[in-house]
Amino acid sequence: MEPLTKTETSSQRADRSELVLTALDVTKSYAGRPVLRGVSLELHAGERLALTGPSGSGKSTLLNCLGGVDRADGGSIRFKNRALEALDGDGLTEVRRRDIGTIFQFFHLLPTLTAAENVELPLQLNGVAPAERAERVHALLKRVGVLGRAQALPGELSGGEMQRVAIARALAHRPAVLLADEPTGNLDSRNGAIILELLRELSDETGTALLLVTHSGAATHICHREIHLRDGLIAGVRDKDAD
Ligand SMILES: Nc1ncnc2c1ncn2[C@@H]1O[C@H](COP(=O)(O)OP(=O)(O)O)[C@@H](O)[C@H]1O
Ligand SMILES: [Mg+2]
Repeated sequence: MEPLTKTETSSQRADRSELVLTALDVTKSYAGRPVLRGVSLELHAGERLALTGPSGSGKSTLLNCLGGVDRADGGSIRFKNRALEALDGDGLTEVRRRDIGTIFQFFHLLPTLTAAENVELPLQLNGVAPAERAERVHALLKRVGVLGRAQALPGELSGGEMQRVAIARALAHRPAVLLADEPTGNLDSRNGAIILELLRELSDETGTALLLVTHSGAATHICHREIHLRDGLIAGVRDKDAD
């Protein structure tokens, strides 16, 4: 597969020292039960950070708070220069729409839209002109290896193909950060490995930071750093470059 072209990525070829996401002492409870008990982390442009921990340790909750899907109860989350807690609902939606891409274990493609239409949707929402939308959708589907499936509905695709389409959709609007919640959790090991390699290559090509929630030890190998969460607290940080 060819890498994305320069013009495709130049606007987001980022300074790798740039801090894109900062969480400071983030707390969150559900029905009075603490789920996040003071979590702090930093994510730089182009960095791949694995978030690991047992089921129920708060990984998805943290990802949802960082992505502005859910509101933290306390602490601060800064996305580039904007504190999410200072934004109203519309402000949060705008940050999500412009700066964040998300992929999930169960793909979450819209079932009545074709693969190409799923990828185009975030561009429509961001007001990108039709000709440029078509160009970007084509380049992305080609890059992730499913151009031949552009007109297929999600129900006609395999799991691996669906996740490729979902990755194309998540990157279409050139977000600064890609949040991935167990993206290989519903794939066999071969397809899981392909998806991880694709994520590694695409974050290198585009400078998009990746926060990867994973159960799988294999998935942490594509990351520069690993944060281990236990009972809503960071129990360990491992710098993979130092191994
Ligand atoms: N919307 C919710 N309402 C109530 N409890 C929730 C909700 N979301 C998550 N939880 C609880 O918070 C804890 C952490 O969940 P989660 O963040 O999904 O963990 P993980 O992704 O690490 O498995 C779990 O005990 C879960 O039951
Ligand atoms: Mg989870």
